[in-house]
Amino acid sequence: EKGGWPSFMKKEISEEPEAVAKTLLGRSHDGAVTLPELDSLHDVLGEINRVVVIACGTAAYAGMLGKYAIEAWARIPVDVELSHEFRYRDPVLDGRTLVVSVSQSGETMDTLMAVKYAAQHGARTLSICNTQGSTIPRESDAVLYTHAGPEVAVASTKAFVAQVTALYLLGLHLAQRRGTLDGAHVAAQLTELQNLPDKLDQVVESASSRIAELAHWMSDTQSVLFLGRHVGYPVALEGALKLKELAYIHAEGFAAGELKHGPIALIEPGQIVFVIVPSPRDPSSLHPKVVSNIQEIRARGARVIAIAEIGDVAVVPFADEVIRIPFAAPLFEPLLAVVPLHIFGMELAMAKGLDVDQPRNLAKSVTVE
Ligand code: BG6
Repeated sequence: EKGGWPSFMKKEISEEPEAVAKTLLGRSHDGAVTLPELDSLHDVLGEINRVVVIACGTAAYAGMLGKYAIEAWARIPVDVELSHEFRYRDPVLDGRTLVVSVSQSGETMDTLMAVKYAAQHGARTLSICNTQGSTIPRESDAVLYTHAGPEVAVASTKAFVAQVTALYLLGLHLAQRRGTLDGAHVAAQLTELQNLPDKLDQVVESASSRIAELAHWMSDTQSVLFLGRHVGYPVALEGALKLKELAYIHAEGFAAGELKHGPIALIEPGQIVFVIVPSPRDPSSLHPKVVSNIQEIRARGARVIAIAEIGDVAVVPFADEVIRIPFAAPLFEPLLAVVPLHIFGMELAMAKGLDVDQPRNLAKSVTVE
């Protein structure tokens, strides 16, 4: 039930911190990841040489973030594919491939068919799912549940952050199993994960009213672009998807490095561009590159709304607006940066007088191919 909230979406965005916290709950001990639900795959996880993540929509963007973390920590190559593309292109699969499906509902037909196909072709299958007892987990060798709680609004929000959390736990579990991270490193990443719920609370609290104002003055905008690099790239794609789904606005997410290879031609005076800015603190940070991307689009008249770390002053002269997020290590930044974009999609839809819980033409779970 909505419990006094104006929409399920608003309620579910406010539950993003809790969705992460509940997905972490009971899954670590003394600085190590403990996932007994993966015991049946113990031998397999030592032998696999490849992970393929399959999903649709928002879940696929969570999968892209999982790729960055699993490759960084467990040093296993990860491909992320849309379920419906994977299923119909004769993919290369064998017993050393772990196919990880990501689905909030556990009923998405495209993903279910892809899981069945993978199993028939010798791959081992793991489901990351938010719905106990749904079909995809039942068809998989093992399941790692997200504990976001029931998600009612059609466009996914809290399930997304829970899916990323589960994929990161999987990455740490694989790293432990395969010895690619030592205990201290695993513990440090777990601490980063455990610190997220409080930081997410801060973002929901601090960003909401400013974003509502921004959405209000943008209510007749025709097009919005989103730019990010590295883990900011899937966030850009997710921000764009939310605007399409909720506000029926043409929106595109781009890898910022790709700008000069095409998308910069779209920039004309007044074009609104959200830019996800990485923390400047990390010595290997892409911060300078993203700031120079901002300068390039600014010079062509873009109106830039930066999502940047508290204390990042370098970005201020180049942005029309800065939405602040707390510091987190690079792989964890996207979980914070995505929340203002979820809020923005919702607020823009509300400013346009649309139904944020039930956007036109969409269904919460698509049970046909
Ligand atoms: C879409 C929903 O149709 O399916 C999206 O509208 C969702 O919100 C996508 O991301 C995948 O759904 P699921 O249940 O497999 O995660």
